[in-house]
This record gives sequence, C-alpha cells and structure tokens, in this order.
Amino acid sequence: MHTQIKSRAAVSGFLLALLVTFSGGALAAGILGTKHDLSVTGGGTIKSTTQTEICIFCHTPHDAFKTDNIPLWNHEMSQITTYGMYTSPTLDATDLADVGVDDPAHSAVSNLCLSCHDGTVAVNSFNNPSNTSPNTPMVGGVDKITGSANLGAAADALKNDHPVNFTYNPGTGAGLDSTLVPTASLTGVKLYNNKVQCASCHDPHTSVDPTGKAFLRVSMSGSTLCFACHNK
Ligand code: HEC
Ligand code: HEC
Ligand code: HEC
Ligand code: HEC
Repeated sequence: MHTQIKSRAAVSGFLLALLVTFSGGALAAGILGTKHDLSVTGGGTIKSTTQTEICIFCHTPHDAFKTDNIPLWNHEMSQITTYGMYTSPTLDATDLADVGVDDPAHSAVSNLCLSCHDGTVAVNSFNNPSNTSPNTPMVGGVDKITGSANLGAAADALKNDHPVNFTYNPGTGAGLDSTLVPTASLTGVKLYNNKVQCASCHDPHTSVDPTGKAFLRVSMSGSTLCFACHNK
C-alpha cells in the first residue's frame, strides 16, 4: 500500500516534469523548432550549423530593405520576374497581377515567400547579416529549397497554384463573387491591402493544422481553411 502511494507520487512527479517540459515548449510555440526555424536548433533538414538567431533569416531590427510594404525584411529578393499566374474560364477576379517583381519596393507579400520558395536564392542570403554570428554556414552546404516546397522559377510556376496577389472581391455585380465570405466576416485568414497572398492562408511563424505542417492559418481538417473564404 505504502509503496503504491510512493510510486504514484513518483509517477505524478514525472508527469509534472513532463508538463513543465511541454509548457516550456508551448511558451515557445510558434516558429521555434519548425522548418522556418533555420537556426542551429531548427526543426527541418535545412538549417545552420552555427547561427543561433531565428528571425534574422527573414527580418532585421535595423538596416532592413527600405520599403514600407514589407516587414523589416532581411532576406535577399529573387530576381525572377515572371511566375505565370493561375487563370480559368470561371475565375471572375479582376485584378490578376504577376507576383514576380524583383524590386523590394514593389514586392507583394507573396514575393517574400518566393524569395526562398522559388529555389533560386540561398536561404542564408541576408541584406544585413547578424552581428552576433555573421557566418551562417548551412548543414551539408544545403542552402536552397530543392524538394516539394520549391514552387519553382519557371515562367508558369504558379499556374497550377491557388491564385495570389489579386483583390478579394465578394458581393454581387460585375467582377464580384457572391460565393465569397464578406470581408468583414473573414476569420483566421488575412488579406493584405485587400488582396489574397500566400500569407492569407499561411502564417510563416506558426501552424494551427493538426498535422503541424504547412504553416496554415486555419486547419485543413474538414477543409475549414477553404470555407474561411468560400461559401460553397
Ligand atoms: C522564414 C521567414 C520568416 C521568419 C524566420 C520570421 N518571419 Fe516574421 N514574417 C515573415 C513574413 C513573410 C511576414 C509577412 C507575412 C505575415 O503577415 O506573416 C512576416 C511578418 C512578421 C511580422 C508582422 C506581421 C505580423 O504577423 O504581426 C512580425 C511582427 C514578425 N514577422 C516577427 C517575426 C519574429 C519576431 C521572428 C523571429 C522570432 C520572425 N518574424 C521570423 C517571415 C518570417
Ligand atoms: C528564408 C527562407 C524562407 C522564407 C522567406 C519562407 N520560407 Fe517557407 N520554408 C523555408 C524552408 C528552408 C523550408 C523547408 C523546406 C524543406 O525542408 O525542403 C520551408 C518550408 C515551408 C513550408 C512547408 C512546411 C512543411 O511542414 O512541410 C511551407 C508551407 C512554407 N515554407 C511556406 C512559406 C510561406 C507561405 C512563406 C511566406 C509567407 C515562406 N514559407 C517564406 C524557407 C523559407
Ligand atoms: C488558398 C490557400 C493557399 C494559398 C493562397 C497558398 N497556399 Fe501554400 N498551401 C496551402 C495548403 C492548404 C497547403 C497544404 C497542402 C497539402 O498538404 O496537401 C499548402 C502547402 C504549401 C507548401 C508545402 C508544399 C509541400 O509539398 O511541401 C508550400 C511550400 C506552400 N504551400 C507555399 C505557398 C506559397 C509560396 C504560396 C504563395 C505563392 C502559397 N503557398 C499560397 C494553401 C495555400
Ligand atoms: C483567403 C481567402 C481564400 C482562401 C482561404 C481560399 N480561397 Fe480559393 N479563392 C479565393 C478567391 C478570392 C478566389 C477568386 C474567386 C473569384 O473571384 O472567382 C479563389 C479562387 C479559387 C478557385 C478558382 C475558381 C475559378 O473560378 O477558377 C478555387 C478552385 C479555389 N479558390 C479553391 C480553394 C480551396 C480548395 C481552398 C482551400 C484549400 C481555398 N480556395 C482557400 C479566396 C480564398
């Protein structure tokens, strides 16, 4: 009897330790340990052998690109100017533009993603390298995305992807789509200057998808993410 109580106490002590460990992890929930944590303790295979900073791969507090439409951006932009764009006979969005602009002053939020995800720019290409550890060699010398997360740099690279960089246009009338959720009712997803961008569906810093993958703003379970915008 006595031993039983003792071992129960030991077990709950162990559980408490586990809980503390996990809440430590939860406190740090977000980018830490994900594939976007490219630091030495990062979660993917593409990561640095020395760099301890995490935000540096995308942001810097000083000497960022001088533009007011990208958030203290520190990653070299891609030189690709044409990715093609999704088109279809049923698409009634009016403002379809190309995301491929290499001038950061004119870049759409989607260009920030493509600065790594078109596979042409090394992930450790900075505008302003970190002061604490300026050298950022990558594990195995792998500094570009080559797998399925590489959307490609061909002139039709985005033709088979959900359209981005166009105005979200719910409503009835010419050029408007009555099956879209009204802008004021959107939850979870995010528009940028009223446009749909990669980061409308993805949050590069965290994921709510049960699989913990793909940095989604809203879960894909039951296609909840799709219903967030489409009344279908
Ligand atoms: C892999 C690239 C990447 C990394 C690493 C990254 N960010 Fe971001 N961040 C982005 C992109 C892209 C945007 C713009 C899209 C958006 O709204 O999330 C952004 C936007 C932001 C914004 C402004 C929009 C918002 O969500 O409030 C803040 C603040 C921010 N990041 C902070 C951080 C901090 C702090 C870190 C490090 C802990 C970090 N980011 C690491 C890519 C990154
Ligand atoms: C600094 C470079 C960089 C930037 C900027 C960046 N990513 Fe990534 N991203 C990566 C790397 C590296 C991986 C891991 C690829 C691999 O393992 O092959 C990745 C993986 C992903 C994945 C796959 C996650 C998984 O679990 O499979 C998604 C989705 C993604 N990124 C979306 C985005 C989006 C959307 C943006 C812009 C809002 C963005 N990324 C900006 C470097 C970047
Ligand atoms: C309409 C929502 C939506 C938009 C817009 C969007 N994505 Fe995604 N993306 C998803 C979903 C959902 C998945 C997960 C798909 C799956 O698991 O089959 C995904 C998967 C990914 C992956 C992982 C692919 C893999 O196989 O490893 C990457 C990388 C990615 N997206 C990058 C981007 C980039 C870059 C953009 C902008 C050019 C973008 N996404 C625009 C919804 C979106
Ligand atoms: C952030 C809002 C948003 C999210 C989230 C979103 N979409 Fe869309 N999607 C749009 C908009 C806006 C259009 C353009 C609609 C139009 O005007 O015809 C569109 C277009 C489409 C089209 C093309 C329609 C055509 O006529 O060719 C399909 C198919 C589609 N979305 C499916 C999806 C699926 C599947 C998901 C979930 C993985 C999803 N969407 C998530 C906003 C979104």
